[in-house]
Amino acid sequence: SNSLRALASKVGLRVGTAVIPYDLDNAAYRRITASQFSSVTPGNEMKWETVEPTRGSYDWSAADRLVLFAKQHDQLVRGHVLLWHNQLPGWLTTGVQNGTIGNGQLRALLHKHVTDEVTHFKGKIWQWDVANEFFTDSNPSTVNPNDFWISHLGTGVIADAFRWAHAADPKALLFYNDYNIAGEDGSNAKSDAAYAFVKRLQAADVPIDGVGDQAHLDTQYGFPTKMTQDLQRFARLGLKVAITEADVRTFVNNATEQVPTDQLAISAHAYYYDQLLKACLAVRSCISFTVWGFGDKDSWVPGWFTGEGYAGIYDVHLQPKPAYTELQQDL
Ligand code: XIL
Repeated sequence: SNSLRALASKVGLRVGTAVIPYDLDNAAYRRITASQFSSVTPGNEMKWETVEPTRGSYDWSAADRLVLFAKQHDQLVRGHVLLWHNQLPGWLTTGVQNGTIGNGQLRALLHKHVTDEVTHFKGKIWQWDVANEFFTDSNPSTVNPNDFWISHLGTGVIADAFRWAHAADPKALLFYNDYNIAGEDGSNAKSDAAYAFVKRLQAADVPIDGVGDQAHLDTQYGFPTKMTQDLQRFARLGLKVAITEADVRTFVNNATEQVPTDQLAISAHAYYYDQLLKACLAVRSCISFTVWGFGDKDSWVPGWFTGEGYAGIYDVHLQPKPAYTELQQDL
């Protein structure tokens, strides 16, 4: 077979995709998910707001569905995400804002969240994104002091989350995940900051196994050419690395058809995917290459970046794009 997953398995790489579990009701979507990918990540369904919509009552149903699908199709699961400032349940953020949840209680709630979630999926998760997006693009010298978690619980909360996750499932690989932490041209400050930070975690014996670069790219910014060397630098610390949320957006005519307004963007799009996968393939410790959804119809991009789209490797009709062929040829 020349599916992405079959080709990647020959070089020991997992090719993954983010999945919206309800989309698995669609036969074409389900077929592509099963046949092309050897790893899956729930796009939203393991986030705190989804798993604990009401304080004290869990809803694992959507995530469980995907975990079962993965098992049936011999796929490994990337768990996403335990500690992040976004997509927190309203009861939690409101409680913190109005003072009914103080910092001591917040810490206890987080400990319980991490422990209960990792325990629920124990033995079924290959890699966990334990902590996500703690550095800003504008001032990455330290973890963002204004981050929800850092401002309330201090920087040590990140190390704690890794320890709690490890205690609950000692076999899962634990990742620090962020965007623009590999490959940036110019100062490369954010990559440097993430590098220094994970090195400190290791020095403090924090159970961290890997670093994920999201790789949400945009053709208007140029390809981040230092990708290979930055991934390699993390790898030299003894860490695994992964591309965790790859997509390449560009300006399009409209959100429905997502036809690039610039014809050249079509080849740029394919080239970025090609270069991204090549960077991962060049680094022995790069264990997975995950796209953040494969079809343009299901992409988060049009909803988040005004006027942009065409970010995936399949078009809005689930037909493979030139980027798909590039990936196939790289493997
Ligand atoms: C996105 C989802 O794809 C969207 O459906 C949701 O509305 C917002 O979050 N970085 C991350 C992911 O780590 O969790 C985000 O996913 C995209 C950016």
